[in-house]
Amino acid sequence: MIGVFDSGFGGLTILKSFLEKLPEYDYVFLGDNARAPYGSRSFETVYQYTLQAVKKLFSLGCPLVILACNTASAKALRTIQQNDLPKLCPENRVLGIIRPTAEIISNYTKTKKIGILGTAGTVNSGSYILEIHKLYPEIKVFQQACPMLAPLVENGETDNPAADYFVEKYSSMLLKQCPDIDAIILGCTHYPLLIKTFKKILGDRITLIPQNEIVAESLKDYLFRHKEMDEKLSKNATVKFLTTDNNKIFDERAAFFLGKTVKSETTEIF
Ligand code: DGL
Repeated sequence: MIGVFDSGFGGLTILKSFLEKLPEYDYVFLGDNARAPYGSRSFETVYQYTLQAVKKLFSLGCPLVILACNTASAKALRTIQQNDLPKLCPENRVLGIIRPTAEIISNYTKTKKIGILGTAGTVNSGSYILEIHKLYPEIKVFQQACPMLAPLVENGETDNPAADYFVEKYSSMLLKQCPDIDAIILGCTHYPLLIKTFKKILGDRITLIPQNEIVAESLKDYLFRHKEMDEKLSKNATVKFLTTDNNKIFDERAAFFLGKTVKSETTEIF
């Protein structure tokens, strides 16, 4: 199976695109809802939580795990790939979602000035700046942390004046740094749930870049290039949902994210 991990519900936006573009595979989605949000947690904590989740998904039979969470990709991916994977299961793979997003950014900007909105953890890690500058040193990257947005989404409060207020606040803080920004990466998997609000506030001048389709295309390409991994993955078109919190609450909210009924199980990962 392909393991898909997020701190909470946000990664379901990525899973939704996997199911559209790669429907034949079997997936296990794991949301660490009991400990979400991760965005303002320390490097060490995000790393430990993410490592636990990866081990859990490996133990369930996932040779490939996607960290469908920018915060975990920013703070834990490299250490897991370089230090833990060789000891745990050298033949398994853990992939993140920052690199594939960075790879396509030049398609979206004419001014060569782009914005990143994400959690404090993602922004402070500087991972987007690093990855984008490796590929496109000429692009100027401006960032704004949005600490209130993931908690709003996690609590299902996407369509209320508080969401409008904070989306407006963080967007104008970003544009104050550089008014010529013409593309903004929604660098948190929770933010696609606020895309209507972003569009209402930012209008047409700025291209908003949610990651779900980009990451799904990148996974498709990865599986095409890595036949040895593709051959290990079962293909019966099933999805299993696991949460570290109450599964009834998960099912109600997850259905809103995925647009279909979800039946999850509660699991422990620590
Ligand atoms: N959805 C996660 C991300 O993409 C993090 C949200 C959180 O747990 O703070 O960064």
